[in-house]
Amino acid sequence: MSTQAATYNYRVVRWFAIMAVVWGIIGMGVGVLIASQMVWPELNFGQFHFGRLRPLHTNAVIFAFGGCALMATSFHVVQRTSHVRLFGEKWKLPELVFAGYQLVLLAAVVTLPMGFTQGKEYAELEWPIDLLLAVTWVLYAVVFFGTIAKRKVSHVYVANWFFGAFILTVALLHIVNSAAIPAGLFKSYSAYAGAQDAMIQWWYGHNAVGFFLTAGFLGMMYYYVPKQANRPIYSYRLSVVHFWALIFTYMWAGPHHLHYTALPDWTQGLGMAFSIILLAPSWGGMINGVMTMSGAWDKLRTDPILKFLIVSLSFYGMSTFEGPMMAIKTVNALSHYTDWTVGHVHSGALGWVGFISIGSLYYLIPRVFNRETMYSTRLINLHFWVATIGVVLYITAMWVSGVTEGVMWRDVEADGTLKNSFVAGVEAVRPLRMLRVLGGLMYLSGMILMAYNVLRTAMAGQRVDARIPALDKHVNY
Ligand code: HEM
Ligand code: HEM
Repeated sequence: MSTQAATYNYRVVRWFAIMAVVWGIIGMGVGVLIASQMVWPELNFGQFHFGRLRPLHTNAVIFAFGGCALMATSFHVVQRTSHVRLFGEKWKLPELVFAGYQLVLLAAVVTLPMGFTQGKEYAELEWPIDLLLAVTWVLYAVVFFGTIAKRKVSHVYVANWFFGAFILTVALLHIVNSAAIPAGLFKSYSAYAGAQDAMIQWWYGHNAVGFFLTAGFLGMMYYYVPKQANRPIYSYRLSVVHFWALIFTYMWAGPHHLHYTALPDWTQGLGMAFSIILLAPSWGGMINGVMTMSGAWDKLRTDPILKFLIVSLSFYGMSTFEGPMMAIKTVNALSHYTDWTVGHVHSGALGWVGFISIGSLYYLIPRVFNRETMYSTRLINLHFWVATIGVVLYITAMWVSGVTEGVMWRDVEADGTLKNSFVAGVEAVRPLRMLRVLGGLMYLSGMILMAYNVLRTAMAGQRVDARIPALDKHVNY
């Protein structure tokens, strides 16, 4: 066996891991800017106004930061749990996935501030970029599933099930929702119209939450939590039930984004019912992750990576409790259009998606640079505390401001006229939005600490790929 065949391919893993940190800083930097624009409108200048930067923020944090973290970890996990190198190296497929994906992201950074958009939330990119993304995604699927197909371990570890579901479903969602008729290089019209367009969009939107922002990150949970805690997963049986229940239920919940709209009433009811059911598999998964710590709780005192991973699960539990509550129509009547939704989004995004990615990257980065640990554990600890205080400030500010807005908007005089003007509502929540800027700045400064720590680790490490261990009865992932 050649030396190359006896090692894993960490090259592309390293690239994606580094880019996750870079895009994290860019996306969250834009987040802090748009949060500031909502407090100080004079910060809107030229084409860099809130309306154009908001989609840049969402694309950069979800698809660039989250996407690169998912690709780095899925390529790492699929190799280690299959005991083989990545599929398609002969044709440079892993490198092509990296190049294609970064090209899509760069195109987003250029075209979104220029105002080129399909106007569909989280699917704004115009059709030529969509096509490039579709091709890149299919290549990603080929590399991932090709690696599973040539595995040396008969079993397919549960983390790969979650990564696999994420990859397949995102391909389906993207291709169906982006169907459009081009009317020029950067202009197109959706293939759907009216209420159908809205339904397809939120079938996409909600499953983007379920599969992009959840399933893939659960893949990370199932590999990196047991690894860092040095304990087996609490219940393998529960993980299988968790998988099937989650992916079945998510598909039906989309209409909760369209309560009280032109959508047929029964679809809204169905969306609400499935959202409430979704609480069960979500919490099943969270409990499985948290209980993996049984017998190792003391490690939480000293290990900041484990702190990131476990606190991410508490935020996951919190946002998946809050989501079903907000899906109840009477609650949604208050929360919809308000900052409450934004608070819910960021308890999931900053607390769950951000923390599980950060924790997993801290585990992965020293290993792919052939080092024992990160350059500084104290910096990881500092990162943990500024990020945690940052999230808490962000989401509590948004809860209070959301409920304030909701209550002020529905307050009416005896004759039915509104008690408060819209501007009065904006003024009332201004201090809370200032607090959000502070929380966001703290979270962003944590990412900058991380970038420094990663840089020092990479500089001190070597780009040598780990050897594939010999197989024995007790498979070591
Ligand atoms: C420093 C960190 C961050 C700050 C300061 C920030 C700030 C913001 C702001 C001001 C908005 C617009 C809210 C509005 O329209 O009223 C927003 C929207 C959004 N952000 Fe962030 N963000 C941050 C990190 C993230 C991360 C890491 C993610 C995802 C992984 C994320 C996902 C989103 C999403 C999905 C929306 C759209 C929410 C909706 O439509 O309800 N953000 N963010
Ligand atoms: C059981 C799980 C969940 C349920 C049932 C759920 C339910 C909901 C509901 C009812 C809304 C408000 C819709 C509206 O009024 O417009 C919402 C918005 C949102 N949720 Fe969740 N949620 C869940 C978990 C999560 C998680 C874990 C995340 C992130 C990681 C997340 C991200 C979002 C985003 C991005 C939006 C805003 C969409 C938009 O309007 O742009 N959700 N969710």
